Amino acid sequence: MGSNEWDEHWSSRKFVSLNFAFKFYRKHVMSNALSYFFEKYFPKDGIFVECGSGTSLTSFKVMKHKRRLIALDLSIKAIMEARKIRKIDYFVQSDILRLPFKPESVDGIWNLGVMEHLTQAEIDKAMGEFQRVLKKGSYVVLFWPPVYSSTGIAYRIIEKMIKIATGKDFRFYPDEISRLSSREEGASIMKRNGFRDCRVFFPWRNCFGDLVVVAKK
Ligand SMILES: C[S@@+](CC[C@H](N)C(=O)[O-])C[C@H]1O[C@@H](n2cnc3c(N)ncnc32)[C@H](O)[C@@H]1O
Repeated sequence: MGSNEWDEHWSSRKFVSLNFAFKFYRKHVMSNALSYFFEKYFPKDGIFVECGSGTSLTSFKVMKHKRRLIALDLSIKAIMEARKIRKIDYFVQSDILRLPFKPESVDGIWNLGVMEHLTQAEIDKAMGEFQRVLKKGSYVVLFWPPVYSSTGIAYRIIEKMIKIATGKDFRFYPDEISRLSSREEGASIMKRNGFRDCRVFFPWRNCFGDLVVVAKK
């Protein structure tokens, strides 16, 4: 999926009031869940990259300590919006399939709602890049929606209602082709890409909206 489609997504003003409701969920639920995993798995010092940051709205509550935070996204529109999140130190427009970092230079990688938009081949390529740039012993934390989740069901119902009301197809997000079918699938993707100590959570903190895949290089 190219940057144009994502630029279009982030520029869209359709159904602003509905987007407001989901923005509330990202800002006040997902962000708290992310802060919890950040504190649990990432050291308090080092360089951390949100690979597919979007607007970085879901990351605005993470604790800084001595961490340097980088927001990286394919979409320039998303990056422009992410600039409003003051605790992010650097902004990079790039593809997670070709990360612009030196080998073993990064202390942690996270993202929310990104991996399900990639094909299996792209997932493996992104994981290869995560492996290349991460320091040994550091973690990835990925919020990755399963086939059935509270938010997924809510999105689908509202999309259907909008279609009935307007007669037009409406999608909140571009296609989600690689939602996880189970925790085991999440663990096996990480294992086949060389990660270890993989744990997959379905946390109440996130109102069961995503599986959270945590794994160590
Ligand atoms: C659903 S959004 C993430 C939302 C984000 N957590 C937020 O709060 O705004 C997915 C993001 O992944 C980015 N993305 C998708 N494929 C990418 C790729 N190959 N490289 C970099 N970013 C990518 C998209 O541009 C989009 O901004």
